[in-house]
This record gives sequence, C-alpha cells and structure tokens, in this order.
Amino acid sequence: MKHFVSMKNLSEHELLQLIKLADEISSQGLQPFSEQLFVANLFFEPSTRTKMSFTVAERRLGMDVLDFASESSSITKGESVYDTAKTFESIGASLIVIRHPETNICTQLAEKLSIPVINAGDGTGEHPTQSLLDLLTIYQEFGKFKGVKVAIVGDIKHSRVARSNAYALRTLGAEVVLSSKPDWQDDTLEYPYVSIDDAVETSDVVMLLRIQHERHTGNEQLTNQTYLEQYGLTQAREKNMKPGAIIMHPAPVNRGVEIDDRLVECNRSRIFKQMSNGVSVRMAIIKRLLEDGGIMNANSFNEREVASR
Ligand code: CP
Repeated sequence: MKHFVSMKNLSEHELLQLIKLADEISSQGLQPFSEQLFVANLFFEPSTRTKMSFTVAERRLGMDVLDFASESSSITKGESVYDTAKTFESIGASLIVIRHPETNICTQLAEKLSIPVINAGDGTGEHPTQSLLDLLTIYQEFGKFKGVKVAIVGDIKHSRVARSNAYALRTLGAEVVLSSKPDWQDDTLEYPYVSIDDAVETSDVVMLLRIQHERHTGNEQLTNQTYLEQYGLTQAREKNMKPGAIIMHPAPVNRGVEIDDRLVECNRSRIFKQMSNGVSVRMAIIKRLLEDGGIMNANSFNEREVASR
C-alpha cells in the first residue's frame, strides 16, 4: 500500500489486515519508531477528531508532527496545494496527511509525490480513515462483516463518510441499505433506499450521518424537530431496533437533529468508541504505509515505552 486515499480499490484481504492490525494496536499498543520521522498534517478544512487523533497517533509512534495552518501559510500568497505539499516533502516529511474541500485532490497529490499521502477527507469524495475506524468498531462488535446489515442514514449525497463506507462494506460482504431525505440521495451508490423505520427495525448497525450544511447550495432547510421526526433516530424508533443492534455516527453530531440528544450516549451508542478507535486505526495506517514504502522497516521500533492507547 503506497497511499491511503480511497476505500474503493482496497481488497477484502487488505481491509481485514488493516482492521486486525488496528485491533491489535488498540489492545496491545505499539512501540514508537526508533528513527526521527516528520509528518505534515495539512488541514484546509475544520476538524477536531481527525486532526487531533492523527496527532495523538503520530506522537504515540514517536513522530515529529509538522503542524500547518493554511491561514498563516504561504497559501495566502497564492502558493498551490501541490507546491505546499511538495515543500513538506522537500524539507523532510516522510508522510502527508491532508484534508481539503476539493474532491480527488489527494489522488492527484499521490500521483505526483514520492512520499505517502493519507486522505483525511476530500470534499464530498471520501474519508477513508473514518471508514476504517467505523469498520473496526463493527468488527469489534460482531467479529465479522458477512451477515451484518448496516443502514447508512442521513445526508448521503454530501457525505464522504457514506461513500467510503459504501465501497468498503461491499468489499467486506456486509448487507447495506441507505435511508435519506429524497433530495439527499446519491444514486451512484448501488444500494437500495428504504424508509427510516425499515432501516432502524431491520439493521444491526444504524450509522447516522451529519447534515452537511456547509456543502448545501439550495434551500434544503427543515426545522431540526421536523428533520428528526421524519428522517432521524428518535427515542420511539430506537425502541424498535433489534436486540444487540448498535448506533454509530462519525460526528460531529447535531444533537436533536440526526439523533435524539438522549440517545447519543445510550447503551447502544458506539459514537465515542468510534473516536477512540480513530487513534489505533491511524497508527495502523501510518505503520503500514511507512513499512510498505520502504521508509521504515518492521525492526525500526525501539525499546522505548510501548505506545499504548
Ligand atoms: N468525523 C470527523 O471527520 O470529524 P472531524 O471533522 O472533527 O475531524
């Protein structure tokens, strides 16, 4: 694996290897690297979870984190994203993590740079590291994907999380249904659309999505209460979920919109577990990329304290 920019072309074997490595790291930790390695975190869009869990993962691996704020960088003087990334490669970064509003920008950078690129969210394209932590959460719950039914619910059209998960869950053999307000459906995803009640009552995983207001162009407004009642997870709907079924959401959560505020931390919710899993998943991806890219070999771990979670 040279880069980590999309879930589309990863095989079942590659996905399961990464999930199992992340699961092992989450229970046993991982020794930090013995050599000095720099990593550049280039975030051109707001982020709390992804940026901070990458930072925690990188520091646990003993990496030196080159933080970047586009508003105080030479981007403001007109420098391109490619020249910015190439600059970090030139000054010694071994890896680039990038979030950017332009769909496909990570694939374009990956074609031109000699160091690994990780997609931390590209426009309405993909969010593959979020998907992998979602997959780890499902794997820890059910121990398998085949026979597990996942409902992806919400603003599917604008969601890079929905897209990455739809690709990966197909590869892994899970059953997937989609549920959305009609004008937020994405017909490029070849899964059936069902009503919110059908999705909630028949699925093992109810994966809710945030309404992506920042990507809406038209007059797509509903009041929060109306949206919750028509398309969201209410307390009444949660009572109809299958025994053992879980609730997921990539967050940030609009409490009282996609999901009733009182369900965010209920027994079925794995929302904060997903966030914890984000650290071990990102450690696993970085380890694999640096090993596969020949930037570090499997013996490059030192005897420092194990970088446990
Ligand atoms: N889930 C997610 O990508 O959250 P952030 O936007 O806070 O990184």
